[in-house]
Amino acid sequence: MSYHLLNKKRVLITAGPTRESIDPVRFISNHSSGKMGYALAEEFLKLGAQVILVSGPVCLKLEHPHLKIISVESANDMYMACCLHFESVDIAVFSAAVADYRPARIASQKIKKEDDSFSIDLIRNVDIAGEFGKYKSPHQLSIGFALETNNEVNHAISKLKRKNFDMVVLNSMNDARATFGYDTNKISLISTDMQQRDFPLKPKKEVAKDIVNAISALLLNKQCLEEIIKLDE
Ligand code: CTP
Repeated sequence: MSYHLLNKKRVLITAGPTRESIDPVRFISNHSSGKMGYALAEEFLKLGAQVILVSGPVCLKLEHPHLKIISVESANDMYMACCLHFESVDIAVFSAAVADYRPARIASQKIKKEDDSFSIDLIRNVDIAGEFGKYKSPHQLSIGFALETNNEVNHAISKLKRKNFDMVVLNSMNDARATFGYDTNKISLISTDMQQRDFPLKPKKEVAKDIVNAISALLLNKQCLEEIIKLDE
């Protein structure tokens, strides 16, 4: 019986939006459906991987004996859940649309309207992928997403470098039927050698296959390199 390279590999995936509370009834969030992250989890599971899916609030269900779903709300919750598993995973895929800011204070009671205008002080959230990028060990792979509206490739490359990703998945908001809410997506993959591969519009499940294939190839390269280093020693 032949096993896939991803068999028994431990994979951490972040998915969906985060919610940053303003008061007990309101929050700041975004349009992420989590579909891409869940499709990735499904594809990794098919190939024998063990998946930890740290998911923001979504309307999706996935069950598998080798899947652990950790449901979270805020970026801080997501970070805390990821921290518990960072060290033990071989691959981390950051597909969540994490809110970059949160209200500086969460009101304990529902905020009542008083004036004609109202503002909320926001403070920066932790960069989950960026933190993993700082501390990842040589055997670990990290893959990020970049959803852009302009100057797409440059922004994606800057994220690849800044967050120490091994590969970045670029989505453009300018592509019809790609991104939020759709069952289809159109991606480009950019790896650290700056090679860019463009894929056509496809169902998100097919896109997940392309991404996971590319991750397997990165893993194979890493393993070959490790073997060569061992032989040299
Ligand atoms: N990301 C993360 N934690 C954050 C923000 C982003 O883990 N607080 C991850 C996302 O999951 C994605 C990548 O970083 O894989 C890029 O996310 P994006 O929101 O596009 O990038 P930002 O660094 O927030 O840059 P900007 O919003 O300025 O485009």
